[in-house]
Amino acid sequence: MGRDVILATQGLTMEFKGFRAVNNVALEVERGTIHALIGPNGAGKTTCFNLLTKFLQPTAGSIRYKDRDITGLKPADVARLGLVRSFQISAVFPHFTVMENVRIALQRRRHGDSFDFWRAEKCLRVLNAEALELVEAVGLSDFASTLAVELSYGRKRALEIATTLALDPEMLLLDEPMAGMGHEDVDRTAELIRRVSKARTILMVEHNLSVVASLSDRITVLARGQVLAEGDYATVSKDPRVVEAYIGAGHA
Ligand SMILES: Nc1ncnc2c1ncn2[C@@H]1O[C@H](COP(=O)(O)OP(=O)(O)O)[C@@H](O)[C@H]1O
Ligand SMILES: [Mg+2]
Repeated sequence: MGRDVILATQGLTMEFKGFRAVNNVALEVERGTIHALIGPNGAGKTTCFNLLTKFLQPTAGSIRYKDRDITGLKPADVARLGLVRSFQISAVFPHFTVMENVRIALQRRRHGDSFDFWRAEKCLRVLNAEALELVEAVGLSDFASTLAVELSYGRKRALEIATTLALDPEMLLLDEPMAGMGHEDVDRTAELIRRVSKARTILMVEHNLSVVASLSDRITVLARGQVLAEGDYATVSKDPRVVEAYIGAGHA
């Protein structure tokens, strides 16, 4: 078959007081791809993300990541295995600069090193170099000493991605990375996601369908908690059930 699946779910289900927000979902994400999870409001996308990153414990089903059953693990364990979700903007410290935020994130990855003055000195240099590299990678070089609170919405998102990348994830989950952005920020963020995806696997929820069309290798459409269709953009966008689900939810 040759398919290299990094993340797979089987019968994934989340029931809230008798209501199945996620219902028997089988999802397979191939290594090195950009996979989009789309669907009308209330389809269960965010709940799915919460299950995958273990913020929620599924009421049924299982999750495998890199040939390992992660169903019973805690969020921190999953993150340590390299499956990381981009944090909400609120996780960025608003009154620290872009560089400081990235450095803090890098230190979070490193903490546990025992203290040694000479080594600390060297660490600081390495840390600064690494932080600068990340700041450049997300296109924020000109804003390195800008306070996070003063960044435009799109650049805040870029910073959020930089602090997530600082954790060196193998697989990145992005929940609506373009939400609330203007055209320019959308284009810049799409370019950033494409660049970041070169060495990683990305699973993203995104409402902007032209972004989904241009970025995704594969798309899974959820509706009412279930997988409605799967394939490349050309295939799913022509699927009458998908069109119906979007129209039915008032997305036409
Ligand atoms: N903690 C919860 N308790 C009860 N119902 C919930 C909870 N979280 C989500 N839901 C419900 O599950 C459904 C799917 O929600 P969600 O995953 O946020 O959808 P999406 O992200 O696709 O818009 C919605 O009907 C929502 O109201
Ligand atoms: Mg959502």
